[in-house]
Amino acid sequence: MIKVFAHRGASGTYPENTKSAITAAVDIEVDGIEVDVQSCLDDYMIIHDTWLERTTNGHGKVNKLTREQIQCFDAGNNERVPTLQQTIDWVNNKTLLNLELKHTFSLDKFVELIEANIAAKKLSRDNLLVSSFDHHQLMWLKQQLPWVKIGALTASIPINYAEFAQRLHASSIHIDKNFINHEFVADAKQRSLAVYAYTVDKQEDIEMMLNYGVDGIFTNYPCNTKMILNSL
Ligand code: G3P
Ligand code: MG
Repeated sequence: MIKVFAHRGASGTYPENTKSAITAAVDIEVDGIEVDVQSCLDDYMIIHDTWLERTTNGHGKVNKLTREQIQCFDAGNNERVPTLQQTIDWVNNKTLLNLELKHTFSLDKFVELIEANIAAKKLSRDNLLVSSFDHHQLMWLKQQLPWVKIGALTASIPINYAEFAQRLHASSIHIDKNFINHEFVADAKQRSLAVYAYTVDKQEDIEMMLNYGVDGIFTNYPCNTKMILNSL
């Protein structure tokens, strides 16, 4: 059965990467929730862009501000930009949490935070999947936490197909739906790598992904996507 990941939470229905989007996805029992993680001056925040402007009423660069400063702003429907810790608490080990590390990400305290949550049983090893377009960052992380599941992000198909992900000791490849083809899926499977496609909202695209044999899809509308999948 194809896995359904809520992309930035249930972001088609609620403001992306906010508590309502995350908890709505937990409530409908998705297979996984994808959120974007960035470093600010003193914490890790769940926000997609480097700058605050698109998704909040604030101004400035996330990595130049403190958590307190960022959480003054409205991220939609009077919600705040969550911290990584808040997100882990809301998900409460109920589903797979896919943390996408963005390019303003600093790994210094990340390993500590993850290990503390594992020790406190707020997160299980099985329920964590860390992805990034920054493959050097993923390689470093895998050295620090050899047990961590790695999702190798790519926009398109690299020249050597899925080989890059194997070198990263990844468990999955996360690829833009528009670049997938049968050869790539076959190559990934032959290397025991799962293929997850983003961002898949329309029935026609869902059917196309099923036809390619992908293992999972990221969608902004997880409730609708689950209904479509059940009806096929
Ligand atoms: O993790 C899949 C997808 O979210 C990657 O692109 O820009 O939506 O973070 P983006
Ligand atoms: Mg993302």
